Amino acid sequence: MIENGCLPSHIAIIMDGNGRWARQQGFARFRGHKQGAESVREITRECSKKQIKQLTLYAFSQENWRRPQREINLLMGLLKNYLVNERKEIKENNIRLTAIGRIYGLPEDVQRELTISIEESKNNTGMVLCLALNYGGRSEIVDAAKNIAESVKLGKITTEEITEEIFKKYLYTCDMADPDLLIRTGGEMRVSNFLLWEISYTELWVTPVCWPDFKKVHLEEAIYDYAHRERRFGGLRA
Ligand code: IPE
Ligand code: IPE
Ligand code: MG
Repeated sequence: MIENGCLPSHIAIIMDGNGRWARQQGFARFRGHKQGAESVREITRECSKKQIKQLTLYAFSQENWRRPQREINLLMGLLKNYLVNERKEIKENNIRLTAIGRIYGLPEDVQRELTISIEESKNNTGMVLCLALNYGGRSEIVDAAKNIAESVKLGKITTEEITEEIFKKYLYTCDMADPDLLIRTGGEMRVSNFLLWEISYTELWVTPVCWPDFKKVHLEEAIYDYAHRERRFGGLRA
């Protein structure tokens, strides 16, 4: 049993291992992505039930454009279907959908469905579900730097006024708290350009379980592990 105060408010997940899962089952990679969408449904529902405040899912990185066009098309199709099919569930669970990344770089039909889902759920007061799409942590920082430079040029702020707090306001994640817990499935020990600024003091939890196999029990294992960690933020034990 975990007391509410020990629950992470914001969980971020690098949903990796879809391709490997498919290979292990003797399927094409796409079957792994399709099955991965089922895990998205289950984990979103569970986090919402547990009253986690925010769930951020790394769904497509900027670097994922390096994949074969066929896989990219299939992923975009899956994303579009997900957005359309999940509207009802999002509404019923009072979830507010948001997105981070260079959204304008996504196919237009995906952007359209995304805008509808965001708009329809904007007044929901439950968990925030944030999808990282065409997202890159370095690009996010570069985009912030460009916008700050623009603000300085326009005389809205001075160079001396730039602090970490001000910088944060220019990130895609300006209105979100930093993640408390970052889960990576598929076993790789890397962050793959995800939320570089935001995870400076996030607790990391990596599991070899591939994303399509990641279920409620694994989520609970990660949360349990998190609840027993001591976060010091550079200070000393309380
Ligand atoms: C994660 O699974 C999904 C995306 C990156 C879109 P992968 O497709 O990277 O699966 P592996 O890592 O090849 O097993
Ligand atoms: C990270 O997985 C990106 C997403 C889960 C969307 P990748 O499979 O793209 O990461 P690398 O290539 O193993 O670092
Ligand atoms: Mg991968």
